Amino acid sequence: MAIRTILHYPDKRLRDPGRPVTEFGPALAKLVDDMAETMYAAPGVGLAAPQIGEAKRVFIVDVATGDDEPSDLRVFVNPEIIERDGIQQWEEGCLSFPGIHEEIERAERVKVRAQDAHGNVFELEADGLLAVAIQHENDHLDGKLMLDHLGLIRRRLVHRSMVKRSTVAAE
Ligand code: NI
Repeated sequence: MAIRTILHYPDKRLRDPGRPVTEFGPALAKLVDDMAETMYAAPGVGLAAPQIGEAKRVFIVDVATGDDEPSDLRVFVNPEIIERDGIQQWEEGCLSFPGIHEEIERAERVKVRAQDAHGNVFELEADGLLAVAIQHENDHLDGKLMLDHLGLIRRRLVHRSMVKRSTVAAE
């Protein structure tokens, strides 16, 4: 297992759509292990493969955030959100937007169909934070980012602060 570098906006690779996974072998298992280690080290509640420069349709979430809660790692390969229902707002963050937190509107409940790391198909119904995390991470697989959900002014502010940050980091 290895901690991988998380790409920060405005890295253009975050806009690459993920390709479907067709092989469920050791390379995928290694990718998922690396993603989990990277997410827990950050720490974050979700991570999508394009965030570490792997343009593949894979994301993980673990919304068990309490220190004494057991981990609840869930792996989604080739996911598809097949039902959305209701509306909720959550203050979201993203490991590709360090320091940024924005209120974003999402469906309150979702039903997702995906494969696990072995290729087995499963369906899951989620609400609350888990539903938010699934929608947020699923967006990454289409090259869609949290700022795309913001109004024009907030989007510009977030864009500028991230560009400024990346310029400072490169100096
Ligand atoms: Ni994100």
